[in-house]
Amino acid sequence: MASIQKSPDDAVVVGPGDDAGVYLLDGRYAIVETVDVITPLVNDPVTFGSISAANSLSDVYAMGGRPLTALAIMGFSPCDYGPPVIKDILSGALKVMKAAGVTLMGGHSFEDSELKFGLSVTGTVDRDRILRAGGAAPGDVLVLTKPLGIGVITTALKGRKIADQEIESTVRWMLTLNDRASEAAIRAGATAATDVTGFGLLGHAYTMVKGSRVDFVIGHDAVPVLERVREFIASGIVPSGAYDNLKFLEGKVDFRKAVTEEEKLVLTDPQTSGGLLIAVPESNIERFASTGVHFSVVGKVVRGSGRLVVQ
Ligand code: CO
Ligand code: CO
Repeated sequence: MASIQKSPDDAVVVGPGDDAGVYLLDGRYAIVETVDVITPLVNDPVTFGSISAANSLSDVYAMGGRPLTALAIMGFSPCDYGPPVIKDILSGALKVMKAAGVTLMGGHSFEDSELKFGLSVTGTVDRDRILRAGGAAPGDVLVLTKPLGIGVITTALKGRKIADQEIESTVRWMLTLNDRASEAAIRAGATAATDVTGFGLLGHAYTMVKGSRVDFVIGHDAVPVLERVREFIASGIVPSGAYDNLKFLEGKVDFRKAVTEEEKLVLTDPQTSGGLLIAVPESNIERFASTGVHFSVVGKVVRGSGRLVVQ
């Protein structure tokens, strides 16, 4: 394959800094590569494995790609976790991978004091269909495909403020693959996209807008939020990551007066297997809606200087 000998400068279409790396194989196809490993956020090992797999696949979808193969990565302490738990985590992951058409090619485990699991995923993308984080244009609207608050709900679960059976809808959202959202984005001629994960909605929106010639204007009232999230935040149940994200964004986000501290924490709540944040030309929003993918319009893109405004 002559393409293998391409100089790295020509072949690397998207390098570090986006959701996944994209490496051109020939005139048309490229491979998409990403890795993500997380610690347990639910009590059931099968569910944890499934969520982690969906979370790891998400970065490929966020690039407009199709995941093909994966390697499993697991850290655990053999004193704390026996083979049944390990098997359960893997079986949960395999269930999601099967649904996504992804083949497990192998993996690696290592000893670790804290349980960790994730996938390194390889996929393909048509070079004309790559969804980058940057590139949103004035006149686009900002579409979000899952509600926020996953970090708050799982923190409440860890603190025993909510029961396993009460987080079913949150789990369902985490298990919802971003494959259809990615397909809808491409069909609607999206100019940019990313998945909302550890940095929260605003952290990832900032990645999309910084250094660009547009501003993002997000309406905090328009953002969908899981049930009970505001109640938990009001009683101080907030993941530390939300505070970290908010601190990082200090001076980078223009918060208008109407946005309370609680609302800011909703918008910076770290998500696991969160939805896609997509910039779609306003005239194409009907086409996006026609795919049947769940979404909310949470803001708009205007001419500007790389600022993030929340009103
Ligand atoms: Co990502
Ligand atoms: Co990632």
